[in-house]
Amino acid sequence: MKTDQYSILFSSLTGNTKKLADAIHETLPEEGCEYFGAIKTPVPSSELLYIGFWTDKGNADNETLTLLSTLKNRRIFLFGTAGFGGSDAYFQKILGNVKSAIDSSNTIVGEYMCQGKMPQSVRERYVKMKENPEHPDNIDTLIENFDKALSHPDADDMERLKNIII
Ligand SMILES: Cc1cc2nc3c(=O)[nH]c(=O)nc-3n(C[C@H](O)[C@H](O)[C@H](O)COP(=O)(O)O)c2cc1C
Repeated sequence: MKTDQYSILFSSLTGNTKKLADAIHETLPEEGCEYFGAIKTPVPSSELLYIGFWTDKGNADNETLTLLSTLKNRRIFLFGTAGFGGSDAYFQKILGNVKSAIDSSNTIVGEYMCQGKMPQSVRERYVKMKENPEHPDNIDTLIENFDKALSHPDADDMERLKNIII
């Protein structure tokens, strides 16, 4: 295992998590970088792994969960984006789910989450739902959240991440 190098691996369908990965990549010294890019096997041998996920059903996406479940004796910095946000408790709940997929021989050296915009089709679905009298009570909150997510990850999100990395 390479103890003097790091790798950044991420899963990103629509580019939000990739933005965070890029920010980490820009912040860390290039000479220590063994690998930067999409999740791949075999997993790079650096002990220190920055692993990025997007949130699917309140947990990391499947590709990331599969990767995490294979790791042993690594140092892991977890980062991710979620369509919902606004409370640290929400992010903590997701991170708790993600961490339960990680073997105890690994050490979590850091974690970071922020909101990430969702595709316009999601808003259209909410608006359609609202037209139905039997729509969920929180439909307006869902639409508000969608609109709030549109600007994320924003410059502040990137800055906060960069400050944790260094
Ligand atoms: C199939 C699917 C399921 C999702 N499930 C959730 C979820 O349970 N909770 C949440 O906060 N966001 C959810 N999202 C929103 C994404 O996690 C969010 O937009 C994320 O920033 C996407 O990251 P990416 O651009 O790196 O792919 C979901 C998105 C998709 C496409």
